[in-house]
Amino acid sequence: MNIGVVKETKEFERRVALSPDGVKLLIKKEYQISVESGAGEASYFSDQEYLDAGARIASKADVLKSEVILKVNSLTLEEVDQAKDGAACISFLYAYSHPDLVQAFLKKKITAISMDAVPRISRAQKMDALSSQANLAGYKSVILGSNYLGKIFPLMMTASGTITPAKVLIFGAGVAGLQAIATAKRLGAIVEVTDVRPETKEQVESLGGRFLTVEGAETVKVEGGYAAEVSAEFLAKQKQLIEDKIKDADLVITTALVMGKKSPILVTEDMVKSMKTGSVIVDMAVETGGNCAISEINQTVVKHGVTIVGESNLPSLLPVNASQLYATNISTLLLHLSSKDGLNLDFDEEITRGSVITYDGVLIHEFTKKILNL
Ligand code: NAI
Repeated sequence: MNIGVVKETKEFERRVALSPDGVKLLIKKEYQISVESGAGEASYFSDQEYLDAGARIASKADVLKSEVILKVNSLTLEEVDQAKDGAACISFLYAYSHPDLVQAFLKKKITAISMDAVPRISRAQKMDALSSQANLAGYKSVILGSNYLGKIFPLMMTASGTITPAKVLIFGAGVAGLQAIATAKRLGAIVEVTDVRPETKEQVESLGGRFLTVEGAETVKVEGGYAAEVSAEFLAKQKQLIEDKIKDADLVITTALVMGKKSPILVTEDMVKSMKTGSVIVDMAVETGGNCAISEINQTVVKHGVTIVGESNLPSLLPVNASQLYATNISTLLLHLSSKDGLNLDFDEEITRGSVITYDGVLIHEFTKKILNL
């Protein structure tokens, strides 16, 4: 089966779907790989490294004729037009927010496989690109936030005086949040964390963070590893807690996510006004509406004396590691769904059923169907 790796075209994207090591792995399994010339450049992987790994370097038009196309971001509508009828593509898709793309896949009978839809189960951990990328993003959110802060993180006792540690407040202790806690602690900050899932308390504490419990959190439902939407009453209690804590924070990192829904607003404009001048917010959830009411996507703005970072693609700021991990995720999924002779889809199997969105002109993915009402 021939596999094509297309160069990403999305603005500010520096990742590539397959690293030279990923190519080597698939070549060993007797897949044929074509890589668009320059596809790895922004991740510092040269065409020569791909050639040495056993890939063919080709033009975009040529690579788009592959049986399976691998990308980080979804194919554009123009790329779908150029793909072969009945081809397959694997990438992040967020199909439930892109009905036009879903229609284009259906029309060309493209098998669309979505990295963001891979179920978060133990068996699929090696294919879980949401987690691999969120982990790196959590790290980078702290590094980026610390750069805007006019302060250091650790306690420092010097002859010239004592510097007290920075206070970091983190919302959401999922994959990104936990890595942000670990990173901020390693740098020496005091870290406080809130999450709606009470079971995260132990994980937060094991990393040295202080867990802020919202009264009533024990009743929050968890579905498929994600927190379900919480009640207005719960959010009101949480708001009170945040209002009390945010005034003292130097750096706030927000990672609260409710799957398939707009992100909950946890930091209101009034809360920003109450923060110390010079403090920083990194709104990691900015792409899904933001956890801060006044963050702006892909902008760093200063409002009410607070720097608010709305970087929507933090993994792309670490393209080498992000591409390496993504390559492992996507090649593991590909090997799970195919052999060297072609795709081999068993819709009774959980990972296949969870990650395939369209097949043979039919939208088969239940969650996407429900959200798009198709
Ligand atoms: P996750 O699902 O592992 O964690 C989200 C956490 O938020 C969960 O622990 C959940 O219980 C918690 N949560 C939900 N509602 C909450 C509320 N009202 N208050 C406090 N916590 C709440 O998700 P993951 O992978 O850690 O991603 C977190 C966010 O970061 C997502 O919005 C994701 O889209 C975003 N992200 C952003 C990136 C960027 O470059 N800006 C890169 C990767 C992820």
